[in-house]
Amino acid sequence: MNKRVYIESYGCQMNVSDSEVVASILAKDGYTPVKTAEEADLVLLNTCSIREKAEYTVMQRINEMNNLKARNRDLKVGVLGCMAERMREDLLEKKKVVDLVVGPDAYRTLPELLEKVGTGQKAVNVILSREETYGEIEPVRLDTNGVTAFVTIMRGCDNMCAFCVVPFTRGRERSRDAVSITSECRQLVRDGYKEVTLLGQNVDSYKWHQTGSITTAVANGTRSVDAKGRHNVNALATVDFADLLEMVALACPTLRIRYSTSHPKDMTDKVLAVMSRYGNICKYIHLPVQSGSSEVLQRMNRGYDREWYLERIASIRQYMPDCAISTDIITGFCGETEEDHRQTLSLIEEVGYDMAFMFKYSERPKTLAARKYPDDVPEDIKGRRLQEVIDLQKCKSAERLASYLGQAHAVLIEGVSKRSAEHLYGRNTQNSVVIVPRVHNDIDLRPGMVVHARIAHASPGSLQGAVLEVLNEKVVGP
Ligand code: 5AD
Ligand code: SF4
Repeated sequence: MNKRVYIESYGCQMNVSDSEVVASILAKDGYTPVKTAEEADLVLLNTCSIREKAEYTVMQRINEMNNLKARNRDLKVGVLGCMAERMREDLLEKKKVVDLVVGPDAYRTLPELLEKVGTGQKAVNVILSREETYGEIEPVRLDTNGVTAFVTIMRGCDNMCAFCVVPFTRGRERSRDAVSITSECRQLVRDGYKEVTLLGQNVDSYKWHQTGSITTAVANGTRSVDAKGRHNVNALATVDFADLLEMVALACPTLRIRYSTSHPKDMTDKVLAVMSRYGNICKYIHLPVQSGSSEVLQRMNRGYDREWYLERIASIRQYMPDCAISTDIITGFCGETEEDHRQTLSLIEEVGYDMAFMFKYSERPKTLAARKYPDDVPEDIKGRRLQEVIDLQKCKSAERLASYLGQAHAVLIEGVSKRSAEHLYGRNTQNSVVIVPRVHNDIDLRPGMVVHARIAHASPGSLQGAVLEVLNEKVVGP
């Protein structure tokens, strides 16, 4: 049976990673991934609920499926991910075109659900789990550049930020087995990948209680090192995020390691110390602040205030003066005053972020904020504040990029530049995009190579570099 599946991912990196788990489960069921919906027997939309606009985009896409079905009567359409979880059976009732609804913890049941769909029935499974981590499933890499990959280390979130729908769509927090994480990373190295991003909604609360002893792991401060310099972990030790980072850094010394997302209330100096110690852990931290006002942060239930956040930033700078920092900001959260907004602007100014994702607050059903606080900042004011935040951040990003001028950076090449076939793009350790010429000293550069480049120009959103030398492909890090 040669069945074809097309999976389209919306929202965060976690969804991209989940789609690869889904592709793996379906591969065992006889499905091959294809690159367009038109070629497929099954179209799966892996959806996002984070803001109303994200859901609206997916709804439009679901409507488009009617045209595809008109042309291919056997086509089946499934909705996966956060919208599946949030809307459940409603989705099947409201959108006749949808055959299948599956929440983020129920992907293992896809084969049975598809069997049911095959008989002309609709199928749904939105049961959330306290244990499911898809730990041993080997993802099928989709849309891959062959250089960078995601590895999920934990699922769900227990934080209950007042604005956020994720605890409702992705359930309770659970950590994946550290051994399966390192072996997936090792497999990536064998498959030629050069960079991994370890993913979790809140990586700093990663905690795995291991039951056996494993080499290359690091126990809570009780290190023992074997003859090859590998760390050992005692039986029954707990592996936290800093330990996990170190395990991966040691297990895969030629792999660049990134991670996302940190939470300011949980980010420890132990993590910063590990980052500073290993050249293959990239010097980049995404540390969402959401607001610069302590009062707003309290209503958001973030568990830290402005001072605490700034202390965390100071600590990052102390451990790694060259570390890039990015953030997420929400404007117009419930009760946000002009003074609160000015505090956000002043925090952006003070931190000098390399990059930021900025959003207008969008009320989400069931959340703490939806139940407790009126969505009382008018739309035009939310919009104006967002614009002010964006304008200021643009200046800060430009300043950060300009500060790299003249420096030599190690750049991992990821692909061909969108603007010019004669140029390639890659990233430095700080995660900024660096454009370099395709040819250096008659050598055709290609994705996966690491080059040393002198940063010669900075334009909005990227740097241009002159290649100094092609580094040994095994050399990673700054
Ligand atoms: N409205 C606007 N932005 C939101 N985010 C999360 N929930 C909402 C919401 N209801 C933003 C936060 C988070 C990022 C992933 O999305 O900034 O860090
Ligand atoms: Fe969207 Fe959040 Fe779900 Fe990711 S976890 S898909 S960002 S709602």
